[in-house]
Amino acid sequence: MIDQIVQDILSCGWSYQQNVVDKFTLKSLAPLFETEFLPAQVGSSMQRQRNVEIRGDWTKWLDPQDPPREIHALVVLLEHLKQEFNQRFYLGLKDVEFHLAKYPAGSFYKKHSDRFETDSSRSVTFIFYLHQEWNPSFGGELVLYNKKNEILKEILPEPGSMVIFLSEDFPHEVKICSAERRSFTGWIHTKILT
Ligand code: OGA
Ligand code: MN
Repeated sequence: MIDQIVQDILSCGWSYQQNVVDKFTLKSLAPLFETEFLPAQVGSSMQRQRNVEIRGDWTKWLDPQDPPREIHALVVLLEHLKQEFNQRFYLGLKDVEFHLAKYPAGSFYKKHSDRFETDSSRSVTFIFYLHQEWNPSFGGELVLYNKKNEILKEILPEPGSMVIFLSEDFPHEVKICSAERRSFTGWIHTKILT
């Protein structure tokens, strides 16, 4: 799988992989999403605010040094990807940050870029979809655009699948969903996070 991701990133800058997390593990992850989450905000540092017209998800930031054991395997996979990307593309990736996210029915995340204007250290975006069921009628597709704002791909958040892309190159949006949409999302940075 790591080889396939590397090939995809080389050829087009993004990769979608299915069956990365098995059904049994998805089930064991469910209780993590029953804990306390905070409303996600938009903007960076001083300008942060809640704006449900832009994004309606709830997040729970995790300590990368001490992640819940249920996601250990994913954190190890990310570490391997980071090393592989550095060896193959010299991206100079250093640190990883991540959160759990849940989008209640009726929520979405309007088109945006994951790079803040004031901080360009987010290099690679990854998203693992962790709900146990998903039906195409639930919506919640991740839409990837190119820099000309043309749609490249609409990805249905299949349970246990993952998406990874170069943060700078792909504006994206999450379409409105009609069931709770759960993910483990984060970024690999080119600087050490404090
Ligand atoms: C994000 C984001 C996409 C997704 O959290 O910045 O764009 O598919 N998530 O959940
Ligand atoms: Mn995003």
